[in-house]
Amino acid sequence: MPSLDQDIAKILITREALSRRIVELGETISREYAGKDLLLVCVLKGGFMFLGDLARAMHIPHALDFMAITSYGGARTESSGVVRILMDLNASIENRHVLIVEDIIDTGRTLAYIIENLRTRNPATLKICTLLNKPARREVNVSVDYVGFDIPNEFVVGYGLDYNELYRNLPFVGVLKPELYGGEGSP
Ligand code: IMP
Ligand code: MG
Repeated sequence: MPSLDQDIAKILITREALSRRIVELGETISREYAGKDLLLVCVLKGGFMFLGDLARAMHIPHALDFMAITSYGGARTESSGVVRILMDLNASIENRHVLIVEDIIDTGRTLAYIIENLRTRNPATLKICTLLNKPARREVNVSVDYVGFDIPNEFVVGYGLDYNELYRNLPFVGVLKPELYGGEGSP
């Protein structure tokens, strides 16, 4: 039977490593937001799996909301810098403690847009939690408060992250075989 695993060149972060790190993040965030009106804002679609595990690793009351963003207009493995809100938050964030939950920060363009947009709505505080961070690719300076893993400059899929809408369901973070997306090292 054909399997998505066959398209993976290597596993970068195993499901066990993801799980351990997310438990740590959940503990840290729970401590730092104890007693506050916390709202986790998940950036769809990539953030959905991380949000699910992070929320379960937290032991303080908190609300959830979702926004959907698209940032790719050009090639599918490069950020176009063009960001569009496809679905906005349901509720007001005014005077609330907002923590943005992202899958990955690459150039930083998407996040810079989201931050600028949410700031105009006057949250009490606005912080960022990202599972993955590619510091080598940063073009826009954004300050990130919680990072799961710094990763090298490779196109990764799995655990919410896609290529062409596939691979989001993989339970690990892996590097896609370059020949599948015409990236580095492809024929
Ligand atoms: P940025 O605007 O360049 O920071 O891009 C952020 C968005 O690009 C993320 O939310 C992802 O949807 C996507 N992205 C960036 N790098 C990768 C990757 O290696 N794999 C899959 N998606 C990625
Ligand atoms: Mg995304």
